[in-house]
Amino acid sequence: MYKIGLIGLGPMGNNLARNFASKNFSTLVYNRTYDKTADFINDFRPEFSQDTLEGAKTIEEFIEKLERPRKIVLLIKAGEPTDQVINQIAPLLEKGDIIIDMSNAWYKDTQRRSKDLEEKGLTFIGCGISGGEEGALRGPSLMPGCSDYAWDQTKPLFEAISAKDFSNGPCVTHIGIDGAGHYVKMVHNGIEYSIMQIIAESYEILRKIYGQKPEQIRAIFEKFNNGKLRSFLIEITEKVLAQKDEFQSEQHLIDFILDQAEQKGTGKLTSIDALDRGIAVPSITEAVNARIISSQKRLRENFAPIFSKNVTEITIDDEAIKELENSLHTTMIISYAQGLNLIKTAAQEENWQINISEILRIWQGGCIIRAELLKTLQSAYQGQDNPTHIFEIPTIQNILSTEISDLKTTVQKGLSADLYLPCYTSALNYFQGFTTEKLPANMIQGLRDFFGAHTYHRTDREGIFHTKWS
Ligand code: 6PG
Repeated sequence: MYKIGLIGLGPMGNNLARNFASKNFSTLVYNRTYDKTADFINDFRPEFSQDTLEGAKTIEEFIEKLERPRKIVLLIKAGEPTDQVINQIAPLLEKGDIIIDMSNAWYKDTQRRSKDLEEKGLTFIGCGISGGEEGALRGPSLMPGCSDYAWDQTKPLFEAISAKDFSNGPCVTHIGIDGAGHYVKMVHNGIEYSIMQIIAESYEILRKIYGQKPEQIRAIFEKFNNGKLRSFLIEITEKVLAQKDEFQSEQHLIDFILDQAEQKGTGKLTSIDALDRGIAVPSITEAVNARIISSQKRLRENFAPIFSKNVTEITIDDEAIKELENSLHTTMIISYAQGLNLIKTAAQEENWQINISEILRIWQGGCIIRAELLKTLQSAYQGQDNPTHIFEIPTIQNILSTEISDLKTTVQKGLSADLYLPCYTSALNYFQGFTTEKLPANMIQGLRDFFGAHTYHRTDREGIFHTKWS
């Protein structure tokens, strides 16, 4: 009998099965086409015994050979394929068996599946997983949403295969019920979009304002990665910049990659959900917009010659590098602030009891947005009385107060040089908006009342007012 079953032998499924087996959890895999299963077992038979890693030929054999209550991990495409597999296996399962969906599922699908399976006496875990293929093999960050029963049954498995945080704790926690785990993973990806975009904008600044070449930019990112920006995304930026091209020898690959960004949709879903809940996540939304605008290259090529750009190069110095480092750091904080504020709101509305400090902990290892900064954010968060927004925390206020002037200078330089810096600009605007006591929204209200009798509140008395505008 096998302790864990895994369906779906794509690169993620392959690596996760090996991760389970390497922690001595006997693992049985199944794939729709047996050829893939046979290849997988063939490739990894030398590493593991038959008792630790085995493939099943049929779904019936797979289900039969699993320990009760069964724990079945699905690593298949989110959406319709997940429903198909659930419908195929659910009739073969018994009360108490657990299905664990590790795709990037839409959290509302997870809520629906949890409810449907619960009605059948089965248990569903919507488990966000981050870290890509490498993370799946060596330790991902895991974000399970499920009942207490399901968490108790799976906790040792999850803890054993997950990455470690800065205090060597497992990068997994019980996020909340039903869709909570997939929701947190979705927002993780939204933050990922924003951070990737500010890295791209920093590269743009270094390239076009400071005239730096890939090797010089690489050296700057190396420096960044040795300081407060230390993180996976900064580290791999350095690696991307170092990569030489395989076709044009001695030239950097980055110069041959087409400037059209693609997306699978989790950033867009974060933005849509935030708008639905009335929460502003402009850096995430602008990161999605930036990918959309980049993908419309034909239009950009048509418009560019008509509207010439005015880039005047500036000589780079240590002060300029520090300024960019602070801008990146503060914009990363603002990106986390937006994402965490969204999670906090969703948790209240969905009754999820999410512990934000725990989220900041489990993102410290394994996941794509793992960063030194998460340690700062987590310790800033501890001892606070459950703040609605991280701008309420004194340590965060101190960092923002010190660094925001550099972000302003970066945005000013970018605008003067006619650069497109949507994330930097929107992060600064988000900060300005949230730190301005009196905004011109009185004008919006006046206009609304003028043309639509939409009414307004007053500053000097209670009640709802409408004016007969002359
Ligand atoms: C992760 C990643 C992973 C995936 C992204 C890519 O946490 O491991 O976020 O989930 O690589 O979803 O998303 P895009 O294709 O939309 O950039």
